Amino acid sequence: MEAAPEIPDILSEEFTANPYPSYRIMQEYFPLVWHEPTKSYIISRYEDVSRAFRDQVFTTANYDWQLEPVHGRTILQLSGREHSVRRALVAPAFRGSELEEKFLPSIERNARELIDGFRDSGSADLVADFATHFPVNVIVDMLGLDKGDHARFHGWYTSIIGFLGNLAGDPEVTAAGLRTREELAAYMIPVIRERRAHPGGDLLSALCTAEIDGTQMSDEDIKAFVSLLLAAGGETTDKAMASLFANLLQHPDQLEAVRRDRGLIPRAFAETLRYSPPVHMIMRQPAEEVTVSGGTIPAGSTVTCLIGAANRDPRRFADPDRFDIFRDDLDTANAFSAAASHLSFALGRHFCVGALLAKTEVEVGAGQLLDAMPELRLRDGFTPGERGVFTRGPAALPVEFTPAVRTGTTV
Ligand code: HEM
Repeated sequence: MEAAPEIPDILSEEFTANPYPSYRIMQEYFPLVWHEPTKSYIISRYEDVSRAFRDQVFTTANYDWQLEPVHGRTILQLSGREHSVRRALVAPAFRGSELEEKFLPSIERNARELIDGFRDSGSADLVADFATHFPVNVIVDMLGLDKGDHARFHGWYTSIIGFLGNLAGDPEVTAAGLRTREELAAYMIPVIRERRAHPGGDLLSALCTAEIDGTQMSDEDIKAFVSLLLAAGGETTDKAMASLFANLLQHPDQLEAVRRDRGLIPRAFAETLRYSPPVHMIMRQPAEEVTVSGGTIPAGSTVTCLIGAANRDPRRFADPDRFDIFRDDLDTANAFSAAASHLSFALGRHFCVGALLAKTEVEVGAGQLLDAMPELRLRDGFTPGERGVFTRGPAALPVEFTPAVRTGTTV
C-alpha cells in the first residue's frame, strides 16, 4: 500500500522554493490542517476557499491584529453597513468611467516615462526597471502625492506587506511595520490638512471632502486608507505585471499570440492571476463553528485560505499546472469582477476594489512594453523563479530585445 505523504509545512524551505507540489498534497490528503506555528487552520480546496470568501460567517476580524497595527483601521476589517458606506467612497474612482476619464492619461504617462529609461538600450530588468515602480507611481499620482518620494512609498509598502506576511513572527519585520505607521502618519497628516484646506481633483481630495452620514472621515481614517491603497495597489500589481511577462516569456507561442493581438492581454492577465497569483494566501476568522472538507473549525479561529492552491485545484481547473491563456475553463469576461472563477482578488464583499485599475494598468503597461520591445526574450541562460510565501512573484526578470525604430516623438 502506498504510504500517505507527510503534511507539508508552509514555513519550510521546500515550500518557499516551490509551494505547488505541497498545495496538491494538502488538497488531496489534508484539506484541513492545523498549523501550530501560525496558530491557524489551513484550507486549500477551491470549494472551501471560495466559500470562505463569500460566506459571511468567515469574518475579516483577523485584520484587527494582522493589519490594524500598521495601517490603523481600514475597510478590510469592517463589515455590514459600515463597510459598504466606506467602500462606496472609493469605489467610483476605480470604476470604468472615472478610471478612463480621470486616470487613464496618467497611467499611460507613467508607463511611458519608465519605458523611456530603457527603450533604446536593448535590455532591461522588467522587475527593477518597470514593475516595481509602475503601480505605486500610478497610485501616488491618483492621490496627488509627490512621485519624487517614490523610494519612501516603496519602502513603506514593502514593510507593510512584510508585516502582513510575517508568518514566522520575525521581530525585526514587526518593528519595521510599526515604524512605518509612525513615518507614514508624520508624512501624510500635514498633507491631508493641506488638502482639506485646498482640495483639488485628486483622489485624496475626494476622500478629504467626502461625507459619510453627514460626517467627514478623520485625518487618521484617511491616512489609514492611503496606507492600505499604497500596499494593496503597489505590491500586488507589481507582482502581477512581472508574473505576466515571466509566464509569457516561458511560453513564446503565447507571447507571440498576445503580441499579434493585444486584445488577448486581459486573457493572459486572467490566466496569470490563476496560475501565479500575487497574493497566495489570506486569512479569515469564522464567527461560528464551520464545517469544511476534512473537518470542523471552531468559532474565532484563524483560517489561512490558500489562494495559490485553490486556483490550481484539479477539481475546478483542467490540467491546472499548465499555463494556457486559451483554456476554456477560465472566464475572462468576469475575471475582474466578483463573479471571477479564479480567487486571486478574493470574492464577496471584500472583492478587490482595485481589480479594474489593475487590469487597466496591465493592459496599458504590457501594451506599451510590447510596442517598445520587438523580439523580446529572456536574457540568455536566465530562468525565471518566484520568491515569497504570502505574496509571491519573480525577484528579477532580465530581458533583451531589439529596440523599436521610432517614427514619432514617442512609441
Ligand atoms: C493584481 C493586482 C491585485 C491583486 C491580486 C489584489 C488582491 C486583493 C485581494 C485578494 C483582496 C481581498 C482581501 C481580503 O478579502 O482579505 C483585495 C482587496 C482590496 N484591494 Fe486589491 N489587489 C490588486 C490590486 C489592487 C489595486 C490596484 C488597488 C487599489 C489601488 C487595490 C485595493 C484594494 C482594496 C482597497 C481592497 C479592500 C477591499 C475591501 O475590503 O472591501 N487592489 N485585493
